[in-house]
Amino acid sequence: MGFSSSLKTIGSAALLASGGLLPAALGAAVPVPVAKRQSTSAITALSTTQITAFRPYSHYASTAFCSPNVTRTWTCGANCQANPSFKPIAAGGDGSVTQFWYVGFDPVLGEIIVAHQGTDTSKILPVIEDIDIVSESLDPALFPGVSSSIEVHSGFAGSQSRSASDVLAAVKTGIAQHSATKVTVTGHSLGAAIALIDAVFLHLNLPDVTTRFVGYGLPRVGDQAWADFVDGLPVQVTHVNNKEDIIPILPGKFLGFHHPSGEVHIQDSNAWLACPGQDNSSKECTVGDVPSIFQGNESDHDGPYDGITMGC
Ligand SMILES: *[C@@H]1O[C@H](CO)[C@@H](O)[C@H](O)[C@H]1NC(C)=O
Ligand SMILES: *[C@@H]1O[C@H](CO)[C@@H](O)[C@H](O)[C@H]1NC(C)=O
Ligand SMILES: *[C@@H]1O[C@H](CO)[C@@H](O)[C@H](O)[C@H]1NC(C)=O
Repeated sequence: MGFSSSLKTIGSAALLASGGLLPAALGAAVPVPVAKRQSTSAITALSTTQITAFRPYSHYASTAFCSPNVTRTWTCGANCQANPSFKPIAAGGDGSVTQFWYVGFDPVLGEIIVAHQGTDTSKILPVIEDIDIVSESLDPALFPGVSSSIEVHSGFAGSQSRSASDVLAAVKTGIAQHSATKVTVTGHSLGAAIALIDAVFLHLNLPDVTTRFVGYGLPRVGDQAWADFVDGLPVQVTHVNNKEDIIPILPGKFLGFHHPSGEVHIQDSNAWLACPGQDNSSKECTVGDVPSIFQGNESDHDGPYDGITMGC
């Protein structure tokens, strides 16, 4: 990915709380209560059942690191075997210019799964620590009707755009083949950033389908307007952060970047806590627990997420 060195700070005008209503419960497999920006709800611990409900998605995000020549046939070994009834539909990417991706149907969950490959910590850090980060509006051809005042990281937007049309076509195929009404988009690290933008893209292009995002080790993707826009959509967003992982605190808020609501923060005790609001500064949530990269631990980025470590 190429990043221009011209400095462009992102507008960070304080917006009023969106006060969005919670999306209606999306079904039994949806484990986490979504609390929106400036929520007054408490930080709550997930039950064992709720934590366990993430396992298929953690494996799907991990499987996205496998090459398309094995995800296309679901022959990637242990990660694929963890979701044994998955029906692959399409896979692509070259792992360098375009991150690997795959689309298929999970008959147990009754959902189309879309997953995007992440990257090594050493490769994503230069991309999100660069203070000369370039942001851009979303391409109106892919994101019809979205305000041009909303800005996202150009590298992430570019990555999402390269697989967008192939992913949309495969999701449509899956909907037709399986009469599916639900899509979950997942990924880890860079793959989570692509997946979040992809979830918005799929929702806007397939508004009759229920779209959900479950990401791991998500970096900040866009500005305050983006975070508020995501919070206002009927797309359930859950981003799971492991312990003192530093990736979720980057790019910095001082550069104008903000997370949407929906953080789940894994504690050192291995408890999973749902953190209400955007970038909740409580010590039990990532922003409070990892005030700077010096308090963080790069080794936490890949997991384990309830025993699942990311990678093919
Ligand atoms: C799959 O692709 C990888 C490179 O991504 C390659 O190393 C491997 O040999 C390929 N496997 C098969 C069975 O084609
Ligand atoms: C963080 O969570 C607490 C609940 O313990 C909540 O009162 C507070 O409003 C949240 N902070 C933000 C910024 O949303
Ligand atoms: C960083 O995390 C790893 C694995 O999660 C752990 O083994 C190590 O002790 C941690 N380092 C520090 C300085 O806490």
